[in-house]
Amino acid sequence: MDPGSWYAEEIERTIITEDEIRTKVEAIAERVSHDFADTEELLLVGVFKGAVMFMADFARALTVPVKMEFMALSSYGNSASSSGTVRILKDIDSDVTGRHIVVVEDIIDSGLTLSWLLKYLEGLNPASVSVVAMLRKPGMQHTEIPVSYLGFDIPNEFVVGYGLDYGERYRELPFIGVLKPEVYR
Ligand code: IMP
Ligand code: MG
Repeated sequence: MDPGSWYAEEIERTIITEDEIRTKVEAIAERVSHDFADTEELLLVGVFKGAVMFMADFARALTVPVKMEFMALSSYGNSASSSGTVRILKDIDSDVTGRHIVVVEDIIDSGLTLSWLLKYLEGLNPASVSVVAMLRKPGMQHTEIPVSYLGFDIPNEFVVGYGLDYGERYRELPFIGVLKPEVYR
């Protein structure tokens, strides 16, 4: 994108470029396609809104047939730290019994959202549940989340872009970056 774009004032630095994202998405999709080559159909479950960009790119890079579902979960409100409370705002529409589910997540921070979601999905008696996550932060112990496919481990900083927001903004940026501190004030 043009470095003179509107966000130049607000983004401190890029941590993952558009090219790096593309290469990584293709690599993950290749592995998943290989691992599920004998599966009749995968059910991708994306989490609104953050995983939308990743879901769209990932689904198109797979070489196995999929169906897509989206869930909307509330755990954060507008704050930048996790409360640990998860509510379903939008559930999946189809019966997942006996299906191979691949959860598509934008980022794992505390892991609370995902561990809750995995328990929920496993309760629906699918054939399997795997996790694809674009980003993972260190810091808080992830409550033993089995991430089968991971894009990048990143530093413990608040990031935006490629689906990730701060106050609902910056999701459309094609790269992942860190906001300038003054934006938070
Ligand atoms: P967790 O439950 O703490 O793992 O948080 C997961 C959710 O918090 C993610 O799906 C994001 O929506 C949000 N989140 C966590 N860290 C960031 C960040 O650095 N930028 C934007 N959203 C984040
Ligand atoms: Mg999310």
